[in-house]
Amino acid sequence: MRALTGIKPTAMPHIGNLLGMIEPALRLQDQHEAYYFIADYHALTTLHDRERMSQYTREVAATWLALGLDPRRTALFAQSDVPEVTELAWLLACVTGIGGLERAHAYKSAQADGRDINVATFLYPVLMAADILIYDSNLVPVGRDQKQHVEMARDMAAAFNSRFGEVFVLPEPLIRDDVATIPGLDGRKMSKSYANTIEVWLPQKALRKKLMGIVTDSKGVDDVKDPDTCNVFGLYKHFASPAQQAALAARYRAPGLGYGHAKQELFEVMDARFAPARERYDALMADGAEIEAVLLDGARRARTVASGVLTRARTAVGLGAAPRAPIL
Ligand code: ADP
Ligand code: TRP
Repeated sequence: MRALTGIKPTAMPHIGNLLGMIEPALRLQDQHEAYYFIADYHALTTLHDRERMSQYTREVAATWLALGLDPRRTALFAQSDVPEVTELAWLLACVTGIGGLERAHAYKSAQADGRDINVATFLYPVLMAADILIYDSNLVPVGRDQKQHVEMARDMAAAFNSRFGEVFVLPEPLIRDDVATIPGLDGRKMSKSYANTIEVWLPQKALRKKLMGIVTDSKGVDDVKDPDTCNVFGLYKHFASPAQQAALAARYRAPGLGYGHAKQELFEVMDARFAPARERYDALMADGAEIEAVLLDGARRARTVASGVLTRARTAVGLGAAPRAPIL
């Protein structure tokens, strides 16, 4: 089985990305062949800033590596280092109706916000389908918000196969219920678009300050509180051991615990969890050479698979297996 996923370099990864997608994906490295990429072509639909693009690309790569991606087993690469994927997106666009794309969440929400929508945003799910199909992926670990996109990829694969023969593997989204939608500082889904994120690699002081800003109700120290509806506890449970969770939940249900104390507990478990990886992250960011070497090796491996699948697709539709003229 082959696992594949992508994340856009549009910001430093946040805790929602980490718990909802990155950690579940990392767990798959042990049993599956894995291809994980930085979706820079997708980022270009909204990010038009060369410096930030390259900075975020390094940050996302360093995040994967610091958290335990093993580049000897798993290919880590930049989407744009495998340009074959844009060619496949064209072939898929030719079997995709406009109606389905109009129902895509990302497009609908851009429309609802009255944003000026570029053509690439409309085609976003087609490129994403190409990303998935070009590696013969079976499993796609994502957060719940990406489920529809993965299902669209599956539909495009089926439409293509029924017209041209069995070219593509049908992929499945892999969504873990307990982390499918991680709440942000205000309790809504943590997302860059809501400005409610907690970045993974904040320095200690900044992390503490962010956590102190989590929205709670106005109960005082001596009021009993409900851990199950509290945003602070909602995050705490992802970082604390079962014993720690039970202990803090008991303190919520008795007088004497203020939300400030709960936030301090959250800070401590998060800081303990990230301190060692943060050192590794800082070292990777300080010397870009290791990141570059990993991305180069990952791109080579990814491109080998991608060009084989693209050849299959080109042949199936009646184009040459490869362009007639090689690049000189
Ligand atoms: P954002 O929504 O902040 O723009 P991305 O779209 O870059 O984040 O998401 C990258 C990956 O992280 C996707 O697989 C997405 O489903 C997952 N993800 C993002 N936010 C959350 C969240 N709050 N809870 C769970 N998974 C999330
Ligand atoms: N659209 C995904 C997101 O916003 C990123 C992405 C691009 C992706 N191509 C992919 C995820 C292929 C999984 C598989 O998070």
